Amino acid sequence: RKIALEAARVDKGGHKHFMAKEIAEQPVAIDRALRAYLGSEDGRQLPEDLDFTTVDRLTMVACGTGYYACLVAKYWFEQIAKMPVEVDVASEFRYREPPVSPNTMGLFVSQSGETADTLAALRYMEGKAAQIVGLVNVQESSIARESDVVLPLHAGPEISVASTKAFTCQLVILLMMALKAAQQRGHPLPDGLPEDLRALPGLIHQCLSLDAQIKDAARDLAKAQDIIFLGRGVLYPLALEGALKLKELSYIHAEGYASGELKHGPIALIDEKVPVVVMAPRDALFEKTVSNMQEVMARGGKVILVTDAEGARVAGDGTHEIITMPQVPDALAPILYAVPAQQIAYYTAIAKGTDVDQPRNLAKSVTVE
Ligand code: G6P
Repeated sequence: RKIALEAARVDKGGHKHFMAKEIAEQPVAIDRALRAYLGSEDGRQLPEDLDFTTVDRLTMVACGTGYYACLVAKYWFEQIAKMPVEVDVASEFRYREPPVSPNTMGLFVSQSGETADTLAALRYMEGKAAQIVGLVNVQESSIARESDVVLPLHAGPEISVASTKAFTCQLVILLMMALKAAQQRGHPLPDGLPEDLRALPGLIHQCLSLDAQIKDAARDLAKAQDIIFLGRGVLYPLALEGALKLKELSYIHAEGYASGELKHGPIALIDEKVPVVVMAPRDALFEKTVSNMQEVMARGGKVILVTDAEGARVAGDGTHEIITMPQVPDALAPILYAVPAQQIAYYTAIAKGTDVDQPRNLAKSVTVE
């Protein structure tokens, strides 16, 4: 009911669905998140009491799309801030009785701030962890109230059940947090960061213009019964998110795998009827992904490759479709690649005629177990 009331207040701004509007709003939402936290002349930055000097590990807990944001952040915190990170879904974490060392920061990521399992996981860590941090979109939420440090996402109201702009804002803020952790812990920042973050709204805007091509690819995808998403490294969670979005919206069975896991099972599924979406910028491990794609193509599988211009060049022939993204530093890639992941799900759902904003059996906020 609360969501319905909110929906009545926020209109679709000329878009056919809230999801389309929320995808299109990402440059503005990300710009808002950057302005709120990226140090600038007016002194706004991540809260001072967010302290990575007194902790030696990070435990991140969330559900659904927020969980995938945490999985991306694990790569960032480990690689950039050299911090050990544990990530879990809240429904598992809360009952697993994991030991919590007092040097742990507990980080809870939730768009609504009301997800029952995530809140229970937070309460489990209360009094055990050094600090409880909440990353939420709804500032007046239970998770916000019960956290020691709250970071609002500034994504603006998200109405569509499938999370889009909240996800990319979560990623942007988690990356800023990883950079702060690196600074506080005396590790050098990757080249160009954090300055390159300021280019994100413009880059996301460029990605949005790929929608005509994605719409075409989606007409084909809509005919499939099973679709596989592959990604490696920091793009692996994006493969999971792409598959989640697609099944939520189009009701097509989709699975995300780490590209290197292809040979350990999913390759058995591949034939000409199972399209494979590969999310892979041209990074240090790109050649390995190219051999994975060749394994797929050798079995008649259709590869839809989401990559950058360099990747498109190196990938060679044989792919069914290449969606060419802007070239960005490795750390920023998952934020950008979220956009085609969302658009693939959106346009496939449109092609299938399903209810994009209110998929069957799903709720925006799950406040019961
Ligand atoms: C529901 C929604 C998902 C969301 C998940 C976690 O399942 O349908 O879109 O990712 O809850 O929600 P939260 O508000 O905690 O991020």
